[in-house]
Amino acid sequence: MIRTTVFLFLIGLLVAPNAKAASSNYPLKDAEVDLGDKASLYRGAQTFMDSCASCHGAKMMRFGRIGEDLGLSEQQLAVLMPDEFSKPGDVIESNMPAEYAQETFGVVPPDLTLSARVHGGDWMFTYLTTFYADPDTIWGVNNATFPNVGMPHVLSAEQGLLQPVYEGEGDERRLVGLDSPEQPGTLSEDEFEEKMRDLTNFMVYMSEPAALLRAHYGPYVLAFLFIFTVVMYLLKKEIWRDIKH
Ligand code: HEC
Repeated sequence: MIRTTVFLFLIGLLVAPNAKAASSNYPLKDAEVDLGDKASLYRGAQTFMDSCASCHGAKMMRFGRIGEDLGLSEQQLAVLMPDEFSKPGDVIESNMPAEYAQETFGVVPPDLTLSARVHGGDWMFTYLTTFYADPDTIWGVNNATFPNVGMPHVLSAEQGLLQPVYEGEGDERRLVGLDSPEQPGTLSEDEFEEKMRDLTNFMVYMSEPAALLRAHYGPYVLAFLFIFTVVMYLLKKEIWRDIKH
């Protein structure tokens, strides 16, 4: 009995964070996450600060850590920080008071430090690129990856507003694809996807900064194992040389 309860609890933990967002079966696109691409991570960090931190915090991430991990100069780091009083020890805080957000959106925008780990990079990239026009919602937009999300399409000026392609009528109506915007945005489709790839890349890094270090140490660990194997082989030969067999 206890075992079953524990088992169900663990399954619950696995399923719970995704429960709401996983209700869409819109196909996910490949985010092509590349944590080795520091320029992309830096561009993504700038987009995050410019377009997301007004509503969302990322309170487990310090500016100084970003600077160290990406090898940024003081000036490059200053570009990311909100103002001249910011310190490298500061975390990414949302600019929006929680009560105001609750009133405006009916929900406080969640902290995004771990969001990419919860959902996965491909989900994040697809989510960011699949807002579409839907006059039935408060913001006039919906999201193919996270249906009925309460977030407005904050990058609609850049992407334009994708048009939904439906199949069926009434209750049977299903979203089957997304068409180009009627009014193009300030970025081409490729440019917008590139920008969202960089942003996703940064969010995946932020959700587990240690992954960068792991990737960095990987080759050294392999080199060590290789050399160790050679040494052990030579040692074995040396030990067995005088033994008749
Ligand atoms: C105008 C405020 C606002 C801005 C700016 C904004 N968001 Fe949101 N976002 C929200 C709200 C509100 C929600 C909660 C929606 C809900 O739960 O229905 C949300 C939800 C999300 C979620 C889903 C989180 C989850 O797991 O429930 C993600 C991911 C997200 N936002 C990413 C971003 C990114 C990346 C940016 C920058 C491009 C951004 N948001 C900019 C208001 C905002």
